[in-house]
Order: sequence, then structure tokens, then C-alpha cells
Amino acid sequence: MARPNDADFRSTGAPAGSPGPVVLTTPAAMQRWRRDHPGDLGFVPTMGYLHEGHLALVRRAKAENALAVVSIFVNPTQFGPGEDFERYPRDEVRDLQLLREAGVDAVYLPSAAEMYPPGYQTYVTVEEVTRRLEGAARPGHFRGVATVVLKLFNAVSPTRAYFGRKDAQQLRVIRRMVRDLDLPVEIVPCDIVREPDGLAMSSRNVYLSPEQRAAAPVIKRSLDAAAAAWAAGERDAETLRRIVRDVIAGEPLAALEYVSLADDETLDELDGTVAGPALLSLVVRFGATRLLDNIELA
Ligand code: PAJ
Repeated sequence: MARPNDADFRSTGAPAGSPGPVVLTTPAAMQRWRRDHPGDLGFVPTMGYLHEGHLALVRRAKAENALAVVSIFVNPTQFGPGEDFERYPRDEVRDLQLLREAGVDAVYLPSAAEMYPPGYQTYVTVEEVTRRLEGAARPGHFRGVATVVLKLFNAVSPTRAYFGRKDAQQLRVIRRMVRDLDLPVEIVPCDIVREPDGLAMSSRNVYLSPEQRAAAPVIKRSLDAAAAAWAAGERDAETLRRIVRDVIAGEPLAALEYVSLADDETLDELDGTVAGPALLSLVVRFGATRLLDNIELA
């Protein structure tokens, strides 16, 4: 696959007089650029195939910092065997165009060979908070996420890093890692961006058939039904989970993998009367495609 470098990216479709971001493709080049560009830096790590959800994070990083950097790296270590690493959607040219339009200063685009060269053997394990939900469904997933995010932080040295609430457990795992390892970065959570019909934006939505796509808003409807009950005073954990299950059961194309009502920080599953803030999350399968969503009940 062709890999843009600084020189040829500026010539890919950027109108004259509108310089694009610098593209850095190795950790050393990224670190050098950062040394030459001091000041507050907002960082958005992504796996590319950018959509409005990613771009909302990018706009915020830009608005709140002197410099904005985005990484695009489909991280092999966070995909399990038999998962969608090979077929994960990729469109570097379009992504770089969107990031140019968004006015980011640099794009970090390392290759897997640069991130994990032969002999690589160091990983970050965040313990309790990775045991349930996505961590249970995807063994090793958060080890890969924590490892790559630490490596990205070490390359970019961000002041602030922007993460979507869409991946609620990932956000909590990263916050835990930052606290536990004393990383000098502020983690900024950003709200979920949705399609007009309520489906949370995701690079994986392209896997859906037209029929599955039409049915997918049932996920948000199930969360809304539980949130309405919560707003009306319902505090029984099992009742709130049951409301989600019942709405999903009404959609024949949707298969509920799990629904969880958990402590908002530790993600320990809740039973009985819910007192504090809680995270209601679920994974729904449409055929082979897993879609995640969640809502915070506070
Ligand atoms: P990716 O799935 O590309 O997501 C990059 C960031 O965009 C994450 O923080 C994610 O939560 C956020 N995001 C995705 N869809 C969103 C939406 N609809 N609304 C708001 N934010 C959204 O998450 C990853 O990549 C990777 O695990 C990564 C952190 C880059 C490590 O490889």
C-alpha cells in the first residue's frame, strides 16, 4: 500500500495555498516533531476510517489546544484471532483529506512494523476494570489498547488526549492507566456522536446490510427506554436491564450479546437498588457485526 510522506501528502488533493498536516510515520520522527513544536497539544488516537464521531474529538482537540495531532493506526494487538483486523475498513487518502480540512497540525501514521518490530515483547495490563464486558468478550483486547495508547502517548507527548464515551470501558481503562502510571496527560471524555436515527457512529457500521442498518436504531431505543424509566425513578438494576432486553427482543435481526448496568467507574455489575452513577451498556450483534452502545445514568 502506498504510504504518504510529508512531501507527497501535500500534493494529494490539497488546494494551492492550503498546506496539509505534516505526516509522521515513525516514533522517532513524531518525537522530533514534538520537540520542535512545544506548547499545549491535543491528541486524538484513532484507527482511521474517520467519521463525524472522530471529527468531533478532533475539533475539540483543536479548539482547546495550540496544536492538534491525530494518529491513524489499525492496531493489530487489540484484535483477537478470528476478529476483523484484516477487513477493518481503511481509507488513508480520505482520512488525510478530512484532517487537512479540520486543520490538524500533524498526523501520526506509523506502520505495524515500526510499532511492533521483531523482538517486541512489552505490554501494559490494566487489571480489574478490564475483566468484564468487552474485556471478557474479547480476551487480550484491552492489553492491546493500553499498550498502543501508551506507545502513542510516548511518541506524541500530548497535554490532553480526547476519547469518546462510545467506547466507555476503553475510556475507563485509559483513565486507570494514566493514574496508575502517573502519565502527564489529561484525559478528556467526549460525548457520543449519533446518526439522525440514533445509531452511534462507528467505522464498523459499514459492515451492516441495508436491512440491518434500518433495524440498528433499536439499540438507542432500548437505552432511551431504560433512561426514561430511570428518570421516572426506577432504581432496580435488574428491571433496568430487563427493559433493554425487552426492546432488543422486539427486533428479529438483533441478537443481544450482553446488557450491563455497572458502577460508573469500576464497572462492577450492580444488583438491587442503584444508588450512585451507573453505566448502562450493551452489545448487539447484527449477523457477524458487533455494535456497542451505552448511556450514563446519573
Ligand atoms: P477508533 O474506534 O477509531 O476510535 C477512536 C476514538 O473515537 C475513540 O476514542 C472512540 O471512542 C471515538 N469514537 C468513535 N466513535 C465515536 C462516536 N460515535 N462518538 C464519539 N466518539 C467516538 O478506539 C479506538 O479507535 C482504538 O481503540 C484506539 C484508542 C485508537 C487504540 O487503538
